[in-house]
Amino acid sequence: MSFIKNYVAQHEQRMLDELFDLLRYPSVSADPKYKADVLKTAEFVATKLIEAGAENVEVCQTAGYPIVYGEKIIDAAKPTVLVYGHYDVQPPDPLELWETPPFEPTIRDGKIFARGACDDKGQFYMHVKAFELMMQTNSLPCNIKFMIEGEEEVGSDNLGDFVKQNKNKLKADVVLISDTAMISMEHPSLETGLRGLSYLEVEVTGPNRDLHSGVYGGAVANPATILTKMIASLHDDNNRIAIPGFYDDVINLSDAERDALNSAPYDDAEYKADLGVNELWGENGYSTFERTGTRPTLEVNGIWGGYIGEGAKTVLPSKASAKISMRLVPNQGSAKITKLFTDHFLSIAPPSVKVKVTPHHGGEPVVTPTDSVAYKAAQQAIAESFGKEPIPTRGGGSIPIVALFEAELGIKTVLMGFGLDSDNLHSPNEKYDIANYFKGIETIPLFYKYFDELSK
Ligand code: BES
Ligand code: MN
Ligand code: MN
Repeated sequence: MSFIKNYVAQHEQRMLDELFDLLRYPSVSADPKYKADVLKTAEFVATKLIEAGAENVEVCQTAGYPIVYGEKIIDAAKPTVLVYGHYDVQPPDPLELWETPPFEPTIRDGKIFARGACDDKGQFYMHVKAFELMMQTNSLPCNIKFMIEGEEEVGSDNLGDFVKQNKNKLKADVVLISDTAMISMEHPSLETGLRGLSYLEVEVTGPNRDLHSGVYGGAVANPATILTKMIASLHDDNNRIAIPGFYDDVINLSDAERDALNSAPYDDAEYKADLGVNELWGENGYSTFERTGTRPTLEVNGIWGGYIGEGAKTVLPSKASAKISMRLVPNQGSAKITKLFTDHFLSIAPPSVKVKVTPHHGGEPVVTPTDSVAYKAAQQAIAESFGKEPIPTRGGGSIPIVALFEAELGIKTVLMGFGLDSDNLHSPNEKYDIANYFKGIETIPLFYKYFDELSK
């Protein structure tokens, strides 16, 4: 499609400049100190949707950060695509590990470095620019609705209500999301499932105050020691999760499905080298792909207690805590797993300490259909722009809205992500390749073209 490439070539610099403007907003949803910036980002997104040609653009208030909505309805008889993305980003810390500041986007080696470059500003903005392209070249073949939220990175707490209250407004034939990864530019892929999430915080309390570790140590249980022992017991010798009932609802994949996933191009040696580890770790009997895509896991996200300042302080802490998350696979349920974890964790606490478990947020796992018109449209779009059929994979991350859209609106999702696992999402030096950004902008109009054609 030469008009697509021509339009991108003509507007390349501006499309990059606008993304840079978006990346300069520190829209960190987790930290209240950025509140004004998050709100300004929503306004910026709304302005850009209007400039691109969207109508009925609205910054919809919620109990938390607003959801930006916009649409272009060309013909009620045509299929409608609902584009979802998020304008909020993860906190940038540890700041000292960034080579250039997280909110001053910088190009190095063909890559845009900034917090949110890939997750998800760079990816959702491709849709805004692809929409502009279709409007300007008179080639928008379907109706389009945008819903860009500001609380994805903190669990989308207010999105459920918004979706329930706006069922008509959000009515669509498919949800299209670019907030996932593909294998590489040489091996384009489409994620066909996401894991769910159950996130909790645990607190172990021993003595009623911090104690001198010499005066009392040896006679009183140390909450940090107890907590680490309890956490260590959550995996067995096969690195399986040792919570009774944890695997009960897991649907095991057939050998054929496992073989298909494992045939994706992937190299353990490269993976290890990239991460700087000598050996990989995970549930025995499964490949790396399976461990991150199709098997449930339990991770400690943070752990603290006692003295962690400069130098040494001899102290036996009163409390120790950890943030723990579990990634879930179909047909596990987040509420059920949260309960299983809580009951188990409380049951293994020795009488020398008190344990408190506080649930944070959750999300349900999903598999997306690979026989739908929308999936086929994505396949054809990628095949045309990359010159290669996309490989179906499973994503290890979570996007809770996907299950919610399905449950509340009955709409299935296509996950057409253009990021890479190595884009440092949630890490220092997050990046997005310029090539992936423009490849996305070129591929998205093809999705609309084929979705319209195949829907007839
Ligand atoms: N875009 C990610 C999810 C993702 C990344 C899916 C890579 C597949 C591949 C999203 O922004 C994210 O980080 N989600 C959170 C969940 C949320 C409830 C905090 C996650 O997966 O930890
Ligand atoms: Mn994301
Ligand atoms: Mn994220």
